[in-house]
Amino acid sequence: MKTTSLLVVVGMMAMAAAVASHDYGDALAKSILFFEGQRSGKLPPNQRMTWRKDSALEDGFQIGVDLTGGYYDAGDNVKFNFPMAFSTTMLAWSVLEFGKSMESDLQHALDAIRWATDYFLKATSIPGIVYAQVGEPYGDHDCWERPEDMDTARTPYAVSKQFPGSEVSAEIAAALAASSIVFRSTDSTYAVKLLNRAKTVFVFADRYRGSYNDYLGKWVCPFYCDFSGYEDELVWGAAWLYRATKAPNYWNYVVENIYNLGSGRKITNGVSSSGGSVTEFGWDNKNAGINVLVSRFINTINSNSSNPFIPKADTFVCSLLPESPTKSVSYSPGGLLFKPGGSNLQHATTLSFLLVVYSRYLKQANKDIHCGNVVVNRARLVQVAKGQVDYILGSNPLNMSYMVGYGKNFPQRIHHRSSSLPSVAQHPGKVGCQDGIAYYDSKNSNPNELTGAVVGGPDANDSYADSRSDFVHSEPTTYINAPLVGLLAYFKSNSRSF
Ligand SMILES: *[C@@H]1O[C@H](CO)[C@@H](O)[C@H](O)[C@H]1NC(C)=O
Ligand SMILES: *[C@@H]1O[C@H](CO)[C@@H](O)[C@H](O)[C@H]1NC(C)=O
Ligand SMILES: *[C@@H]1O[C@H](CO)[C@@H](O)[C@H](O)[C@H]1NC(C)=O
Repeated sequence: MKTTSLLVVVGMMAMAAAVASHDYGDALAKSILFFEGQRSGKLPPNQRMTWRKDSALEDGFQIGVDLTGGYYDAGDNVKFNFPMAFSTTMLAWSVLEFGKSMESDLQHALDAIRWATDYFLKATSIPGIVYAQVGEPYGDHDCWERPEDMDTARTPYAVSKQFPGSEVSAEIAAALAASSIVFRSTDSTYAVKLLNRAKTVFVFADRYRGSYNDYLGKWVCPFYCDFSGYEDELVWGAAWLYRATKAPNYWNYVVENIYNLGSGRKITNGVSSSGGSVTEFGWDNKNAGINVLVSRFINTINSNSSNPFIPKADTFVCSLLPESPTKSVSYSPGGLLFKPGGSNLQHATTLSFLLVVYSRYLKQANKDIHCGNVVVNRARLVQVAKGQVDYILGSNPLNMSYMVGYGKNFPQRIHHRSSSLPSVAQHPGKVGCQDGIAYYDSKNSNPNELTGAVVGGPDANDSYADSRSDFVHSEPTTYINAPLVGLLAYFKSNSRSF
């Protein structure tokens, strides 16, 4: 163990009660390794998660386009580009904020980003078209099959000028722009390529407006339906392009459009949009992320004290903190943050990431936050985020780590096809669509350790069934891990910072 916690728990919260010391460096390495287990396409010689093999080597070939590569989003074998792009943006943001603490894992983090950006360059190579997804999701979900054996339809789904999808396109633009900053110092040619593509994809997303819910319908809903509308992704994309270019047109776009977020509810394809609550952040809704991201620019731009971003970011923080009178999330008895919807740990990781990033702005601005009559300083934001990270790593009533392969006690039966089926090396013969059911139903531990995978997590009473069929709790996703990569890097260097 590298870290010794001298944390003094202030206040009355149960949340940070179980003070343990965690090996954040070990967890960081594993959180990045997980992405190798999600890789689609031809695996490189330096692949470390070697039980995984090449898969989906002809994605896109049926329409004459190379769409190989990228990531499976979770425990299935579909490439959903909307959440994949968000995970990529968060990996890039993790490196931009905390890459200095990653040391020998920095290169692995860059490889994880590049695995996605190489794919997004392919998915946006035809002007006026953005590929939004590869893999027919119903057929995929009806099988329990290794990606290496896949024989379900690998249908490519696209958005275009006529059938737009501004959310998926603008999120891809955000991912490309954020990643371009990451690669600037190590591969400037690649960085320029990413940035140029980000610009053209953003223009496409903005000029041809619409939600992919309307055009791709049941192929994207209910899987990754865009409930919050596409306006947030457009502003988020512009904010990342501003960070990458410092060009005033992107900043103006952010300022002019920030007021449109949250104005009224919309219905697209029968889905009611929740609009733009400033307290939301995740693969669907980018609002709180926009306000936190741009907070770092405020001092460098013509300071306008009536800017809307800082008050909105403060409102976001006040919606989270346990002691805040305007708290809108709940906490389990063991201290885990809960919001409605599945895969709860995605909220714990994405929201904690914003708390730590925003705490840096508070430091720079030498400012506290007022939640009603409760005054919150930056150390408190970090402490709340650390409580969430420590809970995930095992400081919880079950003493259970929710990261596979970290600690002594971790999930054994995750809802994940390739982890739960014998590896190709163990079982070279094909495991057909329905042949996997016996493994799915088995009470045995998964044969392949998907090291670093963080599952959906416990229920609201801190219980965890460790059951493959309980996918809401036992399925890992790329967007749970991506922000955790940054958090773990931060706590690796700052476990005693307050
Ligand atoms: C400051 O921002 C507000 C809101 O965007 C705007 O109405 C106002 O004109 C701005 N003031 C200056 C001096 O730029
Ligand atoms: C968790 O660990 C603590 C401290 O070691 C111990 O007191 C407690 O009984 C453990 N709980 C479970 C459920 O194992
Ligand atoms: C948690 O426990 C309470 C009280 O025992 C119970 O009413 C509730 O249904 C439980 N919630 C979950 C998610 O299991």
